[in-house]
Amino acid sequence: MHAMSLESIAAILREAEEIVIFSGAGLSADSGIPTFRDGATGLWNNVDPDEVASIAGFLRNPQRAWNWLRQLKALVDERRPNAGHQAIAQLEEICSAKRMTVITQNIDGYHERAGNEHVLEVHGTIHRLRCHRRCGFVANWEQSATKPYACPTCGAPVRPDLVMFGEMLDEAVFATAEIRSLGADVFFCVGTSFTVQPAARLPVWARRAGAVVVEVNPHPTPFSDAADFSIRSGASQFFAALCKKLDMNDSP
Ligand code: APR
Repeated sequence: MHAMSLESIAAILREAEEIVIFSGAGLSADSGIPTFRDGATGLWNNVDPDEVASIAGFLRNPQRAWNWLRQLKALVDERRPNAGHQAIAQLEEICSAKRMTVITQNIDGYHERAGNEHVLEVHGTIHRLRCHRRCGFVANWEQSATKPYACPTCGAPVRPDLVMFGEMLDEAVFATAEIRSLGADVFFCVGTSFTVQPAARLPVWARRAGAVVVEVNPHPTPFSDAADFSIRSGASQFFAALCKKLDMNDSP
């Protein structure tokens, strides 16, 4: 990681008032949660997303989707936030006089578990179940059987409260994510391949609105050339180094 870039980014952060961390599956890779499209380990290498993670696939064969999602939930519960999540939580503390928002595409809840308070889960969460008709019924997995079941209130299927392929995002959550992105002074993109819309639009809007965009990814992405800084590093290493830099020069 280039020391000059770290110095420059730390100096920019000290002047910033609005900070956004936009995270993807790469941030949880160091926790042992497979990313979706990474080489041989990507989650989508072993299953057809259309069968287990699309709403059409879920309604076609609820048991198959439920089995896979339940396995993902068990893996997420077994693992824990990594040094990258902890450093991002520490960054929120160091920058407590500023407004910092985490906008995550991840459904693992690791940002909150690490201590971040302002988290927008634009793709929902694996930790909660809800009525497919959104009648108001919610539950957690512990309360549910090992197979999908009907909403006790209205009879519609019960499913995880995450955005499946073919579904719209929660409008209120995404509208807040758009506002934070348009108002950002610094916009970090961490561990994402910018593959899935509309989330992948957020860094483009932030850049157009004048934010300094910092990409943190061991590999280049389609957005690397557009970023002001494209840091070829794992999330854990970069954010730990950034927090140390900021701490050394006392908090911004
Ligand atoms: N630190 C930072 N980035 C990493 C690390 C790491 N340690 N390890 C891998 N990466 C990068 C990879 O290089 C890749 O660019 O993380 C990115 C992961 O990309 P994807 O697997 O496509 O994950 P993501 O961008 O979050 O996918 C977006 O697609 O399947 C849907 O809903 C799902 O939210 C997900 C969305």
